[in-house]
Amino acid sequence: MWGRRQLLTALLIGPWYLAACGRSAVQRPPIILDLLVETNDDLLEFKPKELSCPAGAHVRLTFRHTGKYVNFQHNWVLIRPGTFDAVIQAAARAGEQQGWLPAGNPAIIAATSMCGRGQSVSVEFDAPPPGRYVYICSTPGHAASMWGVLTVTPS
Ligand code: CU
Repeated sequence: MWGRRQLLTALLIGPWYLAACGRSAVQRPPIILDLLVETNDDLLEFKPKELSCPAGAHVRLTFRHTGKYVNFQHNWVLIRPGTFDAVIQAAARAGEQQGWLPAGNPAIIAATSMCGRGQSVSVEFDAPPPGRYVYICSTPGHAASMWGVLTVTPS
């Protein structure tokens, strides 16, 4: 018979445990690195502006919108080197209904959905080969200041 403490623990971790089972059933790699990035409060900036991870890591990135006053929607989009302008233009063409995100664009390595004030969103991806990768918010006008660099180190 489980004691009260074990039961409470099981209740708390239960959903995560089940989610992990679901993932292993489809042979997805385990999460080996959690990254957190936030807005710099209400500013059009990410905090931190630099992240790093080893090549090939299975990353779960959580993006938290910590704004309190301004009602901007933001996302976190990791893009391939040299594609900044092209992605910005494609995002603008995609429009608000598509979350300012061009579907199936090969320049985009990973992207969260749009996120409002006080919310968090996350995305899982496998880290690309070593190098410096820019991340942006693809809401029109934001990426001029709302960007950062993910440095992927040799694993
Ligand atoms: Cu934004």
